[in-house]
Amino acid sequence: MHIEREFRGEGPGGRQVLSYYVYEAPVRLWHWVNALAIVVLAVTGYFIGKPLPSMGGEASDHYVMGTIRFAHFAAAYVFVFGFIGRIYWAFVGNHHARQLFILPFWDKAWWGEVFFELRWYLFLEPKPKKYIGHNPLAQLSMFFAFTLGATFLIVTGLALYGEGAQAGHWTHTLFTSWVIPLFGQSQDVHTWHRLAMWAFVVFVMIHVYAAIREDIMSRQSLISTMVSGHRMFKD
Ligand code: HEM
Ligand code: HEM
Repeated sequence: MHIEREFRGEGPGGRQVLSYYVYEAPVRLWHWVNALAIVVLAVTGYFIGKPLPSMGGEASDHYVMGTIRFAHFAAAYVFVFGFIGRIYWAFVGNHHARQLFILPFWDKAWWGEVFFELRWYLFLEPKPKKYIGHNPLAQLSMFFAFTLGATFLIVTGLALYGEGAQAGHWTHTLFTSWVIPLFGQSQDVHTWHRLAMWAFVVFVMIHVYAAIREDIMSRQSLISTMVSGHRMFKD
């Protein structure tokens, strides 16, 4: 395992401040573009299912729902191709780039640390552990909520898109043809796609809370790590 380690000078009390290069530029860029795309998808998706009251006059003059759907589909393309790019980077990037896709599922010690982190987040442990990559609880929740959730949203989203694009379009051939019959009918796919959005919203709320909390409490950098790529340890 290759780890790039740098000495960053002396911290308070003459302690060394060490920094490790963790998230490579494509991962960082993807993280923020992906976050933005998800905000657009969740807001526009919310209104697709619960449309605004109709406005007076000719619908095509203001084209409100058309614009909302266009924004959803444009952000969906960013999200889908970003995710494909992120999978590619898991193959060619450093070993932290694979954490989002592969869990050390059979490693007992890793599960022990998942529960340690859970106790730490519940204020039941006095001292945090330090991790160069994701902590085990973060990795576990990112895998189940993000990696599996994103896959589900992409498959159901492309199936719904293929309905509008109609037979012959690649989304219809690859997704609509089997996803709609699998769920029963179109409305079921809408409902599950929408439910998955709420699951994502809950994930994002917990994720942002945890990132800010850990940045303050665990004495290692988190948010700046997703900007610069470097994890700094304060002691
Ligand atoms: C983070 C990802 C996504 C979120 C949070 C999201 C959210 C939503 C929501 C809440 C709806 C309304 C469902 C309803 O109540 O009927 C919706 C509809 C839809 N979404 Fe997504 N979506 C996401 C990704 C995608 C992707 C990747 C596609 C692929 C093109 C997509 C295509 C669609 C389509 C076609 C509709 C139905 C539009 C209509 O009936 O007018 N979505 N989305
Ligand atoms: C829609 C919003 C967001 C989503 C879906 C999201 C998703 C993710 C995912 C999937 C990762 C893992 C990255 C990887 O291994 O490739 C990650 C990491 C991270 N995210 Fe977000 N994120 C969002 C917003 C934010 C925001 C607003 C912040 C800052 C407050 C943030 C801070 C972080 C940090 C600090 C990490 C690295 C954690 C660590 O070092 O263990 N994220 N995020």
